Amino acid sequence: MPRPGAALLLCLLLPSLPEPSAAESPLQLPTPQNVTIYSYNYQNLLTWAPVKVDNGSVLYTVQYNTLACNCWEEINCTNITKTECSFTDPDIKSFWTITLRVRAELGQVKSDWVETNKFVADQNTTIGPPVIVNVDSTSDSLFLNFLHTVKEDTLQYLVRYWENSTNKQHETKWTKNTRIGLLNLKQLTVYCFQIRAKVQVFDDNIGPLSETNCHKTAASGAMRAGFVVVIFVAATVTVVILAIVCFLFIQKFHQVVKYWFQPPFKIPPHIEEYLKDPEMPALEELQNDCAEEDPWDSLSVVSSAEGSQALVRDTLNTNVHSNSRSTESEKT
Ligand SMILES: *[C@@H]1O[C@H](CO)[C@@H](O)[C@H](O)[C@H]1NC(C)=O
Ligand SMILES: *[C@@H]1O[C@H](CO)[C@@H](O)[C@H](O)[C@H]1NC(C)=O
Ligand SMILES: *[C@@H]1O[C@H](CO)[C@@H](O)[C@H](O)[C@H]1NC(C)=O
Ligand SMILES: *[C@@H]1O[C@H](CO)[C@@H](O)[C@H](O)[C@H]1NC(C)=O
Ligand SMILES: *[C@@H]1O[C@H](CO)[C@@H](O)[C@H](O)[C@H]1NC(C)=O
Ligand SMILES: *[C@@H]1O[C@H](CO)[C@@H](O)[C@H](O)[C@H]1NC(C)=O
Repeated sequence: MPRPGAALLLCLLLPSLPEPSAAESPLQLPTPQNVTIYSYNYQNLLTWAPVKVDNGSVLYTVQYNTLACNCWEEINCTNITKTECSFTDPDIKSFWTITLRVRAELGQVKSDWVETNKFVADQNTTIGPPVIVNVDSTSDSLFLNFLHTVKEDTLQYLVRYWENSTNKQHETKWTKNTRIGLLNLKQLTVYCFQIRAKVQVFDDNIGPLSETNCHKTAASGAMRAGFVVVIFVAATVTVVILAIVCFLFIQKFHQVVKYWFQPPFKIPPHIEEYLKDPEMPALEELQNDCAEEDPWDSLSVVSSAEGSQALVRDTLNTNVHSNSRSTESEKT
């Protein structure tokens, strides 16, 4: 049999050979898979998929190294059973470039180390959006007050906003203030906004936008005043209409109303007696006057210049009359 043929046969057979189990080959514990770093607002977590073995509990160990030291140091994740390791450690500075590695261990059997990519918290962490505390609205602006859990001097914020009905977006400038004003807005209009934060250590590390929030601007003072005026005018008009209706009603049912509100006038007996004194001027006349003429029904209208001239003339005439009368009385 030629030897190349034997080699080929071996190659074909190999895959079908039973795979060595962890227990049987002490140096071949599989490495942890899917080793991933999650970092949000500087809370750093290393995770990996559990290494499956038939029995026994696998332990894991995590180490890190920095550019400063060509060595591996332990963090608080040695011989752990969990498949994650929080490495938010004040000893690990956020601007350091670190690499982590993890391996599995079962009794004396160890897996190879699996290394992560280089990690710089300042660059790799996801800077979450700040939390909106409240929104103050005026007629032409919205003021957003917010805070951030991260205590970092270089934190800055930006707001993207738009009128809900138009979707034409605007952005504020980056600012360190935790109060941002959206200015020159329309009154009584719904505006929506998203906010994001960034840190700047080497390069900008810009975080994702927040959820959309919507707020309505207030009514302007002028509009409120206008509203008050409208109400006032409406009230006035109502009162005037009521007055006119009353007036017309009284006009129409003049006698009835008069009767209701004012029973026929009776001269008190003692006055009547006094008036009946023959020396007094005609009582009959007086009574007739009262009955026929209602002093409230008289109406005087002065409308035009001609009218007033006429009035003046009339007045003059009356004066003349009275004068002549007075002269007459002087004569008598
Ligand atoms: C690793 O992640 C991928 C995708 O998320 C998944 O399909 C796979 O099953 C994971 N591996 C393990 C060992 O959990
Ligand atoms: C597997 O389990 C058996 C019985 O529970 C035990 O005797 C044995 O030591 C275990 N093997 C390992 C590698 O843990
Ligand atoms: C390490 O972990 C142990 C147990 O989980 C805990 O009690 C201890 O405070 C941790 N030490 C540090 C420095 O995180
Ligand atoms: C971790 O476990 C190994 C063996 O399983 C042991 O030699 C070592 O001392 C343990 N380390 C710690 C910190 O417990
Ligand atoms: C950190 O960010 C750099 C640059 O974006 C990237 O190359 C690297 O893979 C990231 N590190 C981790 C652990 O994700
Ligand atoms: C924004 O507009 C959409 C559709 O244009 C509407 O469904 C939604 O209710 C509006 N949001 C607010 C807060 O008014």
